Amino acid sequence: MALLPILTYPDPRLHTVAKPVQAVDARIRALIADMLETMYDANGIGLAATQVDVHERLIVIDVSEERNQPLVLVNPEITWASAEKQVGDEGCLSVPGIYDGVERSRAVRVRAIDGEGQSREVEAEGLLAVCIQHEMDHLLGKVFVEYLSPLKRNRIKTKMLKARRDTERV
Ligand code: NI
Repeated sequence: MALLPILTYPDPRLHTVAKPVQAVDARIRALIADMLETMYDANGIGLAATQVDVHERLIVIDVSEERNQPLVLVNPEITWASAEKQVGDEGCLSVPGIYDGVERSRAVRVRAIDGEGQSREVEAEGLLAVCIQHEMDHLLGKVFVEYLSPLKRNRIKTKMLKARRDTERV
């Protein structure tokens, strides 16, 4: 297993639209293991393949307190979303240090292939529902800051670019 570098906003590669995974083979299983290790190491609750510069439809999630309930969703598709919405604060491993409110469906149902190649359907509400919607956006090339006002987004972009320059200097 290996830790994978995480792309940070506004890296243009974060706006790539992912293609479906063709098969859950050895390569994909290795990628799943690496993505889980990377997510846990970064203390994240979700990670999309897009964020590690692999543009295939695969996300990993763990919203459990104990960090021992990994959820692997390959080729996820939302089959139902509640009309009821709620606004919650979101953050993202690709936008470190930034948290802001985003409106999402309160509950969703998602069909996907799991890490063993089995088809399954997951019903989610609350934090898990938010996380699934956030990670699936990544697969469409969308970062959560794009829901914020242009003014906020530009401030975040400036801050991220400055942070990157500061890192490169040391
Ligand atoms: Ni994210």
